[in-house]
Amino acid sequence: MPFKSYLEALNKEFENHKYGENPAELYEPISYIMSLGGKRLRPLLTLMSANLWLYNWQKVLKPAMAVEVFHNFTLMHDDIMDQAPLRRGQQTVHEKWNTNTAILSGDVMLVAAYELLGFAEDRHFKLVVKRFNKTAAEVCEGQQLDMVFATKADVKKEDYIEMIRLKTSVLLGFAMELGGILADADEDSVRLLNEIGVNLGLGFQLNDDILDVYADPEKFGKQVGGDIIENKKTWLLLDAIEKAKGTEDGKKLEAWLKKKKFDATEKVEAIRGIYDKFEIRAEAEAEAKKYFEKAAEALNKLAVSEDKKVLIRSFAEQLEKREN
Ligand code: IPE
Ligand code: IPE
Ligand code: MG
Ligand code: MG
Ligand code: MG
Repeated sequence: MPFKSYLEALNKEFENHKYGENPAELYEPISYIMSLGGKRLRPLLTLMSANLWLYNWQKVLKPAMAVEVFHNFTLMHDDIMDQAPLRRGQQTVHEKWNTNTAILSGDVMLVAAYELLGFAEDRHFKLVVKRFNKTAAEVCEGQQLDMVFATKADVKKEDYIEMIRLKTSVLLGFAMELGGILADADEDSVRLLNEIGVNLGLGFQLNDDILDVYADPEKFGKQVGGDIIENKKTWLLLDAIEKAKGTEDGKKLEAWLKKKKFDATEKVEAIRGIYDKFEIRAEAEAEAKKYFEKAAEALNKLAVSEDKKVLIRSFAEQLEKREN
């Protein structure tokens, strides 16, 4: 079963899903963001993980959707926090409507996520909610650290890795773990699924930060350079600060980070120029690769037959090469 069929099943289910009607101002932004698509990689991971054991993966569709709705809720709020104008090639919700709308529609999306999670079978529900709650709180912790780091001096690379583990990776970990739990997999396998997802997530967020600087704007669907404009302490920026220390470029970099008023294009070009000079991109790619390899190693350890793992393996490879 190629994951295109999973994607079709998911999209069909999303098209028919009702989030609520009145007031329209509350629910329209939800239909809007959900209709913009996106890669749907988290629910795909849930379905592919469940299918390692379960024949009837359709049973898992609704709880898998919960992960995607939660993800989209975090994006709606993340775009306010990051002052992002674009999402999936379209206006962000707070730009199209306003910030208050994006806050409240996001809030009710979290409720919608719990509702979908409620479709898990009774014998799984308690554990699923417990694990989801832990994950959701960690995502918020990561998002807070992401904001704190933007104005904090001496952020270390290990702090960055911990921050992205929280804001991004644990959700991929949970997505996979959820598939295992719902398919009645044994505890060791569920733990391994989480480990695979977390490592995929670390590689994935490192790549996201690389794409934020280097993506083709046509393909990316988000504002290129947004992280630079916002002084996000990405691995690239931390590496550049480290490598340029004590040089003219180091001083220039510091000056850009301190500037309150600037031309955005000029700042992005200047900082990207410094990244290029110190070959930061290749280093960041090598760092991302480490985590994709760890994910592959954990997948090797999973006690299911090789032919069942092929799909997840090829999905992970595509994820590593993504351009949006
Ligand atoms: C964006 O996630 C947020 C990050 C964790 C980098 P995705 O890149 O999965 O976004 P969509 O859902 O495909 O648009
Ligand atoms: C977002 O990280 C992680 C979450 C939404 C929790 P980013 O801020 O890098 O995500 P994008 O680039 O806006 O999608
Ligand atoms: Mg963002
Ligand atoms: Mg962000
Ligand atoms: Mg990003």
